[in-house]
Amino acid sequence: MSTPAMTRPAGTEAASAAHSGERTAVEHSVTASETTTTAPAVVRARNLRVVYGEQVALGNVDLDVHPGEVVALLGHSGSGKSTLMKTLTGIAPFTADTLTVAGREVAKQNPAGLRGLRSDVGYVFQHFNLVPRLSALTNVLTGGLHSAGPVNILGTFSRAQRTQALDLLDRVGLAHKSRQRCRDLSGGEQQRVAIARALMQQPRLILADEPVASLDPRLAGNILGLLRDIAREEQIPVIVSLHVVGLARRYADRVLGLHSGELVFAGPAANLTEKEVHQIYGTDTELLEN
Ligand SMILES: Nc1ncnc2c1ncn2[C@@H]1O[C@H](COP(=O)(O)OP(=O)(O)O)[C@@H](O)[C@H]1O
Ligand SMILES: [Mg+2]
Repeated sequence: MSTPAMTRPAGTEAASAAHSGERTAVEHSVTASETTTTAPAVVRARNLRVVYGEQVALGNVDLDVHPGEVVALLGHSGSGKSTLMKTLTGIAPFTADTLTVAGREVAKQNPAGLRGLRSDVGYVFQHFNLVPRLSALTNVLTGGLHSAGPVNILGTFSRAQRTQALDLLDRVGLAHKSRQRCRDLSGGEQQRVAIARALMQQPRLILADEPVASLDPRLAGNILGLLRDIAREEQIPVIVSLHVVGLARRYADRVLGLHSGELVFAGPAANLTEKEVHQIYGTDTELLEN
């Protein structure tokens, strides 16, 4: 499906920056998915490392993510999943031989460049981070206001923006609830609104940090299925952290397994055997397989 929200004007800063950086990414790709071949990498990281004081929160991670892919991050709480995501938009302090996201070298961005980078990356959170008293539609519209104060300029949304936001609510199956306040929506519905809000940014990458940790298993599958469809149909890659191995197997193309910040598995979800699961989680895997 193609909505107005998905049509990024040619020649934008991000698009042209992406072109310059991506040729190299393809040629030297070492961890690309088997399912994606020639598409330029949206994320390219080499030797990515985050240290907090004495603690290595993320150690020497290599990663390529291509359009259309869903990459799951697995690991115990504290293993570095959120930290990895935060480095991609320059929120966590990192060192790296290379870290390029949506055509931008993250380490070289000034504040304006970082704002541009963050507007290229849609974030979806465990607790949705919607404004509960505002309607689903208005929450989606705020996705288009990346650096402005959303609530102050609510009156200024154009008809085109409203149409775009409604299309996106339709995309996530919630057109009929556009006027409902988010606090009156179910958890699964709220996460759909949050996904529509992220799409309103016309992102080049979606980071979903434990997006289904607060949902029951059936809804979790619905939300992950939606994210996977978006990745495929809009060619927006999704990096998603999960607690449940079975969900990663079902919905991800590739898995990165982190243990105490170290990458202990990187490969197709289909190759995630019990041995790899033990490397990621130790022996404590009984609760992880639903
Ligand atoms: N801002 C910070 N300052 C110090 N330590 C941090 C900070 N953010 C994360 N950490 C530490 O880094 C490690 C990885 O954390 P995190 O990425 O949040 O793990 P996960 O998302 O896998 O649960 C943890 O030990 C955490 O305490
Ligand atoms: Mg986390």
